[in-house]
Amino acid sequence: MAATLIDGRAVAKAFKEEIAQRTQVMIAQGVTPHLAVVLVGENPASQVYVRNKENGCIKAGIRSTVIRLEESCTQQELEDTVKRLNEDESVHGILVQLPLPRHLDEAAVLRLIDPDKDVDGFHAMNSGRLMNGQPGFVPCTPLGVMKLLEQYGIDPKGKHAVVIGRSNIVGKPMAMLLLAANATVTICHSRTQNLAEITRQADILVAAVGRANFVTADMVRPGAAVIDVGINRVDGKIVGDVDFDAVAEVAGYITPVPGGVGQMTIAMLLANTLDAAAKRGR
Ligand code: GUN
Repeated sequence: MAATLIDGRAVAKAFKEEIAQRTQVMIAQGVTPHLAVVLVGENPASQVYVRNKENGCIKAGIRSTVIRLEESCTQQELEDTVKRLNEDESVHGILVQLPLPRHLDEAAVLRLIDPDKDVDGFHAMNSGRLMNGQPGFVPCTPLGVMKLLEQYGIDPKGKHAVVIGRSNIVGKPMAMLLLAANATVTICHSRTQNLAEITRQADILVAAVGRANFVTADMVRPGAAVIDVGINRVDGKIVGDVDFDAVAEVAGYITPVPGGVGQMTIAMLLANTLDAAAKRGR
C-alpha cells in the first residue's frame, strides 16, 4: 500500500478523551451535558447508529436519553416529542435519527428542532449559517472529515476538492466546509457526466455515494487524499464507497472503513453536544 492510512479511530479516541475531560469540568460546575436521540421504527442500520451514539455519550460521561417511537407513529406524535425536548431545560442536544419512515415529513420535523439544540446541524438556520460563514452547529460527518484532514496536515487551501454526493447530511455541508477552508470545490452526483474525468482532478476526493466499491483506482489522481464516507454492508461485512485495496496503491492518503470517518462522526456529535451545553450554561 502506497498511501498513508488516515487512522480515524486514533484521532477520534483523542477527541473523545478531551471531550470526557471537558464533560467532567462541566459536571463539576453543575451542568450535565445531555443528548436526546429520537429513533422512529426498526431500521437496522439506524438501531446500530443510535446504539453507538448512546455508547459514545456514556463513555464520555454525557447523559443520553433515547426516545423510541413505533414505526407507525404519527407526525403529530413525533412533533410533540421534539417540542417537549425543545422545552426540556435539562436537554442540550436533540437528534432525530434519519431516515424516518416514509409516511413522516422529515423536513417539517427538522424545522421544529430548536436551532440551539440542533447538534446534527440539519436545521435550515444552521445550514444557512454554514453557507454564510457564520458560527453554528455543523453536521458531524463532514466536520469529522475536516478534523481528519487537519490532523494529517492536509490543508485544503488552493486545492481542488471533489465531493461525490449532494446530500444535506454529508455532500452539501462537506462542500461548504471545504470552500470555507479555501479549496476549489466541485460537487458531483448521480447525474454528473464524465465523473472519472472530474475525480481524477481531485487533490482531495470525498466519496459519499452509498455504493460499495464505487470509487476505483482509475478515478483517483496519484497522491490524492481519498476520504471514504460510505458505510455499506456487503455479505455481512462493512465496506465503504472506495475500492480500498486498489485505490490505496494510487492515493497519497486514504481512510479505511471501518476505522475512518465513522469514528469521527460520533466524536463530533459529542463535541457539538458539549458546545450546546456550554452555551446554555445549565
Ligand atoms: N442518518 C445517517 N447519518 C445521520 C446523522 O448524522 N444524523 C442523523 N440524525 N441521522 C443520520
